Amino acid sequence: MPDYQIAPSILSADFARLGEEVDNVLAAGADMVHFDVMDNHYVPNLTIGPLVCEALRKHGVEAPIDVHLMVRPVDRIIPDFAAAGASYITFHPEASEHVDRSLGLIRDSGCRAGLVFNPATPLSWLEHVLDKVDMILLMSVNPGFGGQSFIPAALDKLRRARQLIDQSGYDIRLEIDGGVKVDNIRKIAAAGADTFVSGSGIFGCGADDDPHRYDGIIRQMRDELARVHAV
Ligand code: DX5
Ligand code: ZN
Repeated sequence: MPDYQIAPSILSADFARLGEEVDNVLAAGADMVHFDVMDNHYVPNLTIGPLVCEALRKHGVEAPIDVHLMVRPVDRIIPDFAAAGASYITFHPEASEHVDRSLGLIRDSGCRAGLVFNPATPLSWLEHVLDKVDMILLMSVNPGFGGQSFIPAALDKLRRARQLIDQSGYDIRLEIDGGVKVDNIRKIAAAGADTFVSGSGIFGCGADDDPHRYDGIIRQMRDELARVHAV
């Protein structure tokens, strides 16, 4: 079985209690924290920056932090996120003037680098930089908001990305982001994803005052993933 990783998107967490939310979701068995950075420019929404990433580290979060940049320009903010404790930094190739340079900057800052593909962005952006990416993130919604529905065409794109990765022999994670829930995670994994972002699908669960409210949903996702390769 592949090393499946669940990455709750804190976009749907209660920002007034962010540290506690992240603690609870990690205690429930999540593998990494998906951190959506929006600039009201590249995407029509505005979220959080390096100070919040640093605050989570200071709060004691040790799990990988997976920073998904939806910003333009890209390069200016990369060293700040590296200093703030980011583990992965991914960006949209259309938002960078120099994709190869941005990928290099991320790795030189000590982080793992990734490219993000909007639903209409072709995988051909990878052709000359596959050796420079640690993560390929396919968007299964248009970026900017949580709570949207999974776009089914992402499944074929996942299969193509999985082929590219396997043929390359590189160690690259294949992440999916948007509309991932218990009822579709198995089919998404079967199409080749190994890293699953889920925002509203996880943080939408349970009663606010229950610290164990995410246990059940993460367990259900893992159960679904365990069935992918079962006959
Ligand atoms: C959308 C973000 C996603 C979002 C996913 O632009 O990149 O990470 O939080 O939210 P759900 O899982 O609710 O679709
Ligand atoms: Zn995201």
